[in-house]
Amino acid sequence: MKVLHESGLAPYHTFGIDVSAKYIVEASSVEDFLSIWQDEIYQAIPKLVVGQGSNLLFCEDYQGVIILNRIKGIDVVETAEYVDLHVGGGEDWHQFVAWTVDNGFNGLENLALIPGCVGSSPIQNIGAYGVELKDVCHYVDVLNVLTGESQRLMAEECNFGYRDSIFKHELKDSHIITAVGFRLAKDWQPQISYGPLAKFSLESVTAKEIFDEVCSVRCEKLPDPKEMGNAGSFFKNPIIGLASRDRLLSEFPNMPSYPVDSGHCKLAAGWLIDQCGLKGYQIGGAKVHPQQALVLTNTGNATALDVLHLAQYVVDTVAAKFDVALEHEVRFMAHDAETNLQEMLQ
Ligand code: FAD
Ligand code: EPU
Repeated sequence: MKVLHESGLAPYHTFGIDVSAKYIVEASSVEDFLSIWQDEIYQAIPKLVVGQGSNLLFCEDYQGVIILNRIKGIDVVETAEYVDLHVGGGEDWHQFVAWTVDNGFNGLENLALIPGCVGSSPIQNIGAYGVELKDVCHYVDVLNVLTGESQRLMAEECNFGYRDSIFKHELKDSHIITAVGFRLAKDWQPQISYGPLAKFSLESVTAKEIFDEVCSVRCEKLPDPKEMGNAGSFFKNPIIGLASRDRLLSEFPNMPSYPVDSGHCKLAAGWLIDQCGLKGYQIGGAKVHPQQALVLTNTGNATALDVLHLAQYVVDTVAAKFDVALEHEVRFMAHDAETNLQEMLQ
């Protein structure tokens, strides 16, 4: 187990904010995780499991231990109907998706190029281009660090929702995801309903074509964290009641909205922010991405406070124009625990 003391977090998160942690350690097995929780040095200080830090904003130096999930390995079991994959939580998500496409295991291609680890994918039920993790997840293996027990949760037990799961609520802070099981149907049904994929034909499209198109659209729209710090969509797309949607549509007839259930729909936060004229708006080193208003970026030397002030400005401006509340998707970490925009700026 590699241990680094008082280390800069730059290589371990994608926002590029200059922050450090008291300790950074790598865990490559369930036993490593258990020994960290039992270690005297770490017992009295806060602990945070991190995959690739692509959905995190460190608001302050972290006064505890960052544990990088590096559990590796992919096991394959094929039956007549399914390909079952058991994947270590520390595997790189995009490399895993590319490997499935190369091996003819179809079903994950729409989720190409999402940064992060496989073990983080169930936490916010990652989704893109018409597919969510819940559509392909069979089970999630977890370690309860309070009892030392391992447990398997079937997908139905994970309470998956839009950018949500049991891991953000009941199991937060007590359970670590060690592996994820995927069940891919051999009778593959391509998902091509989302915008740029609709040009394909259901009869002839291949998983590789979808994979390549998703990669190309994403490269066009989203800033590469290696070139410009960011954490993807900063805010969730707000879900509102149909009466509120109708009120907004009467004033903004071009506003995109997507059905969720019989009483609710989802709005495009990027569109709302864009309509406020905020593309390219900058506070200090933090900037609303000029190509995708839902992404807040670090132009080079942004402080966490720059990002927080920009986020608050976006929230206030959208609320004033549309009376819609934006909630951040990115997880905020204070020096010892998770926090949020309101707490950080009060
Ligand atoms: P981290 O940021 O390291 O962790 C996220 C949270 O999960 C933290 O609270 C952490 O403590 C916790 N955590 C991490 N691993 C574990 C574990 N094993 N057990 C328990 N808790 C854990 N998301 C989408 O859904 N769709 C997209 O299209 C998308 N596009 C993106 C594009 C870009 C350019 C970027 C930068 C991000 C994008 N994201 C997207 C967000 C991000 O990629 C996902 O949320 C991803 O799953 C985060 O993985 P990670 O390993 O980096 O998690
Ligand atoms: N739009 C604008 N201006 C903008 C951005 C978007 O008008 O600056 C409009 C678009 O024209 C479109 C609508 O808003 O009509 C939706 O935009 P887009 O298709 O780009 O998707 P999004 O809602 O911005 C969501 C996810 C992404 C995911 C894409 C593709 C959330 C919060 N974001 O983005 O996920 O990759 O759809 O499925 O749900 C992430 O979670 O980090 C993430 C990147």
